[in-house]
Amino acid sequence: MTQDTSIYAVRRARVARQLGEGGIAIVPTAPMQPRNRDADYPYRPDSYFYYLTGFTEPNAWLVLTAEGEATMLCQPKDTEREIWDGLRLGPEAAPAALGIDQAFSVAELEQRLPRLLENRAAVWYPFATHAGLESRIDGWLQKVRARVRFGALAPDTQRDLCSVLDEMRLVKDGHELALMRRAGQISARAHVRAMQRSARMLRAGEAVREYHLDAELLHEFRQNGSQFPAYESIVAAGANACVLHYRADKAPIRDGELVLIDAGCELDGYASDITRTFPANGRFTGPQRALYELVLASQQAAIDATKPGARFTDPHDATVKVLTQGMLDLGLIDKQQHGTLDDAIANRAYFAHYMHRTGHWLGMDVHDCGSYVEPSEIGQVSERRDPLSGELIKDRPSRVLRPGMVLTIEPGLYVRPSEKVPREFWNIGIRIEDDAVVTDSGCELITRDVPVAADEIEAIMRA
Ligand code: GLY
Ligand code: MN
Ligand code: MN
Repeated sequence: MTQDTSIYAVRRARVARQLGEGGIAIVPTAPMQPRNRDADYPYRPDSYFYYLTGFTEPNAWLVLTAEGEATMLCQPKDTEREIWDGLRLGPEAAPAALGIDQAFSVAELEQRLPRLLENRAAVWYPFATHAGLESRIDGWLQKVRARVRFGALAPDTQRDLCSVLDEMRLVKDGHELALMRRAGQISARAHVRAMQRSARMLRAGEAVREYHLDAELLHEFRQNGSQFPAYESIVAAGANACVLHYRADKAPIRDGELVLIDAGCELDGYASDITRTFPANGRFTGPQRALYELVLASQQAAIDATKPGARFTDPHDATVKVLTQGMLDLGLIDKQQHGTLDDAIANRAYFAHYMHRTGHWLGMDVHDCGSYVEPSEIGQVSERRDPLSGELIKDRPSRVLRPGMVLTIEPGLYVRPSEKVPREFWNIGIRIEDDAVVTDSGCELITRDVPVAADEIEAIMRA
């Protein structure tokens, strides 16, 4: 938990101003998740709840009124439970520690919530995020209605709090950016460490497996105070890199193969997300380098397109242009069939080897919240037919980038064995991913403490 509670108070005040007269918001944190028998997954608070409170205990609820009054319901002090599970803040200490107005035991939730909802005009909560939340709120509203004969008024409107919080979280404040820069540095160092371990073991003639490199990532994350990986790390040797959602497993990493690592730490609730692809032994072969340089050039085109005023889709379009031209030049897509670059793009011929988007918002969640459509242009719908599936697609204008937004830039190229492509490229999977903060003039890459240039990767792997 951060000591300085003012950042959360500022965020709560911004939310309160958007609730409308008589509005009230309810935000639960995440439940504990059972893993097997009586073992739980490591606890991770709900992102919305943490964003507004900085509080990391389970079994807690924030209630916030339009007038700005913040109430917390949290676990009561309990000597017996605290011996087993650890210290609890408790409702007596919570107001001072969290900078909120009042706190009660969560054991009182069923009595307190109907009273808090009484005489409010609208109730806001995050829709479709917590299983069972809707019916619990219905139950509390029923209890308010049961008191209407005594003059109580029940809220007549329910609103999605995600719409308010997603927009706020999309543009990061200074506190968030500082954490994300630090998370990016830790993750970058973890990638360097994994690269160097791979080369060192192969040089020593040792058998390397994917989990050896995963161990290096985890070591560097925890060594620097990260709580856990922001998502399941991918450590993919050779052909495994062509499986987009491969996990770090036990496959051998062989001399002459590439390794793709997609891994980032979470630091105090904020994710980083880096991918590097490198030669296991520290030296690219000719075909590996040809594809690598192409992906790198496409990433640079996307970076150049990431600036305020540009659309979210601009980096993707820039990537696709460079990648598709490269695929035509290297014989990965058929020049006879798709004569020109424009044809190959219009037909989505590149999709055979590049089948994902070039980025996503990044923040507390690795695929962070925030609309990808520009809110002021939501009514401008155009229709087109997808050239591969024939599906009718409705397009809305893509989001305009603004300073403080954070997104990943992650082009890739995945070549599965096929008679349609030169054999020398078979089973090569490459992705290069960095995290970018949109600035006043362009973007700041916060994950470049691990190199991307092929020569620089070879140099640090010799070290
Ligand atoms: N690691 C998840 C992603 O790159 O989107
Ligand atoms: Mn990633
Ligand atoms: Mn990503």
